[in-house]
Amino acid sequence: VKRVTTHTLQKMKERGEKISMLTAYDFSFTKIFDEAGIDILLIGDSASNVIAGHETTLPITLEQMIFLASSVVRGAQRCFVICDLPFGTYQGNSKEALNSSIKIMKESGAHAVKLEGGTEVCESIARIVSSGIPVMAHLGLTPQSIYQFGTYNVRAKEDAEAELLLKNAHAVQEAGAFALVLEKIPAALGKRVAEELKIPVIGIGAGMHVDGQVLVMHDMLGITKDFSPRFLRRYLELYDAIKGATAQYIADVKAKDFPNDKEQY
Ligand code: KIV
Ligand code: NA
Repeated sequence: VKRVTTHTLQKMKERGEKISMLTAYDFSFTKIFDEAGIDILLIGDSASNVIAGHETTLPITLEQMIFLASSVVRGAQRCFVICDLPFGTYQGNSKEALNSSIKIMKESGAHAVKLEGGTEVCESIARIVSSGIPVMAHLGLTPQSIYQFGTYNVRAKEDAEAELLLKNAHAVQEAGAFALVLEKIPAALGKRVAEELKIPVIGIGAGMHVDGQVLVMHDMLGITKDFSPRFLRRYLELYDAIKGATAQYIADVKAKDFPNDKEQY
């Protein structure tokens, strides 16, 4: 199979073919997503929430991200694999950003890294890119800044924040980012950013006019139950399906129905 690359993704934007992206955190799900034809898999620091059970993305470490990313890389034959730089491994220090990125690339085998922020991380983006590592940027509702935002509400609804986002989008492109994620912003702003930038713009709650879409796998598959933002479409209701199957297994064990005479040696 032909591997998706940054060039493939750039060509997709140029011919108007939408880019599909999901998060993944392990080998087994990765194999399924990859065989289904997903273009990009992201080892998101959302692992801090959906894998580790933390309230925010802040606690997850570089080593923990690398373990998950290496598992995803082993399951991915075709898709492009991107690993998030976790909180505290790149902010405010481009040398540290480069070192963290090199560690991810060497120890996990991921194909690119992603970081959150605009002009304040541009020096880091340029430095990482200069070492040969592709960088995806992330603007809008950037969860590593949740304590500054105070809420998970839609960002950039006001003109001032929208203008700042637009300026930051151009800045990360100029710094060398190969793509940009926009999270939870008005569709009209997503449209404007995607039209103005040359690089692919992937949205999560950024409307229909951006160049591609990303969802957290647990949300898309309905494994998370109490998370229902407007932007989320659930393709399965796995929470209920898995709970039902588990209850049936428990009942079968208790009733001495499992194992039966054909299910033993
Ligand atoms: O961590 C994550 O899952 C992400 C995506 C939502 C883009 O950054
Ligand atoms: Na993330």
